[in-house]
Amino acid sequence: MLQVGDEPVYFSAVFLLVALGTRSAAGASLLTASLYVFMVMFRFPPVPADQAGRVLRPGAPSGGVPVVALRGGSCDAPENTVAAIREASRNGATGVQLDLSFTADGVPVLMHDETVDRTTNGSGPVSNLPLVQLKKLDAAARHRLKDKFSGEKVPTLQEAVEECIRHQLTIFFDVKGQADKAASVLHEMYKKFPVLYNSSIVSSFEPKVIYKMRQTDPDVVTALIHRPWRLSRFGDGSSRSPSTWGQLWTGFLDLLLDWAHHHILWKLCGVSAILVQKDFISLDYVQYWAERGVEVVGWIVNTAVEKEFYQHLLKIGYITDSLREDCDPHY
Ligand SMILES: *[C@@H]1O[C@H](CO)[C@@H](O)[C@H](O)[C@H]1NC(C)=O
Ligand SMILES: *[C@@H]1O[C@H](CO)[C@@H](O)[C@H](O)[C@H]1NC(C)=O
Repeated sequence: MLQVGDEPVYFSAVFLLVALGTRSAAGASLLTASLYVFMVMFRFPPVPADQAGRVLRPGAPSGGVPVVALRGGSCDAPENTVAAIREASRNGATGVQLDLSFTADGVPVLMHDETVDRTTNGSGPVSNLPLVQLKKLDAAARHRLKDKFSGEKVPTLQEAVEECIRHQLTIFFDVKGQADKAASVLHEMYKKFPVLYNSSIVSSFEPKVIYKMRQTDPDVVTALIHRPWRLSRFGDGSSRSPSTWGQLWTGFLDLLLDWAHHHILWKLCGVSAILVQKDFISLDYVQYWAERGVEVVGWIVNTAVEKEFYQHLLKIGYITDSLREDCDPHY
């Protein structure tokens, strides 16, 4: 690690790259200076470390690392349901990760996919169904334990939040898009249940969502989600683009995004954590972020061997599909 601190190094790198690219020292100076001013003027300071600590190191009952049930623990119960939240608590999770979505009539509910097809007995986009229709569906219909959980409904965001508070679970809100709407709905939720400031975190792949959230309510703890090569490759490693040029271009964008996440965006948004795909996490990586006051949380950690690694070696929290058994990986 260099001793001069991050910023002079990064701004020098930007200056050099622009100067080399444009062959203009004046242009490069101007651009670097603008970037610097932009950062100073528009970045959000992170929430106080003790507040972030309450959310990110809630203290597992067994004294272990925090364990967060993905979508409430999608292997142990129907994902994103109140039953899953209850089950996660019973199985010793310290928190749950929940996906925010909106019905046709604008009610915030929990749903991971854009459509209800994979998880319920209905079909079509969530955004086409008003709440009364959505509430008629069976959210356990496609789950391997559907008999045990039959009749489970898709919960509204508020129903889910209330259940989590009842069980003192940390909530990792996962926001996919619709930055303005999501930020305003979550802000209302924080106002209604102020305990959330100490017990939940808003996370997204989209820096725009996080930035908007902090703009709307700077007291909310936030995290960026990161998977290297996300734009060019699917989670299983296969290429998204059929053409070589497409692959090269999206690969280049991935490099840029990776650099931006690690050097600019985290600071601009003032995040307290970064949620990273498990294959890219090492002790050095955790250390890199620790030096910047940012916690790393790994996903999706689904086998006993991996969980041991997080518990005893990395000593960081992780997100898993199951608190009870090894599950198939998904991305
Ligand atoms: C889905 O299941 C619920 C509960 O069993 C039932 O009331 C509803 O009619 C079903 N909906 C569809 C579209 O099959
Ligand atoms: C968060 O926890 C701290 C320390 O226990 C407490 O002083 C503060 O009032 C809590 N904030 C909210 C909004 O509950």
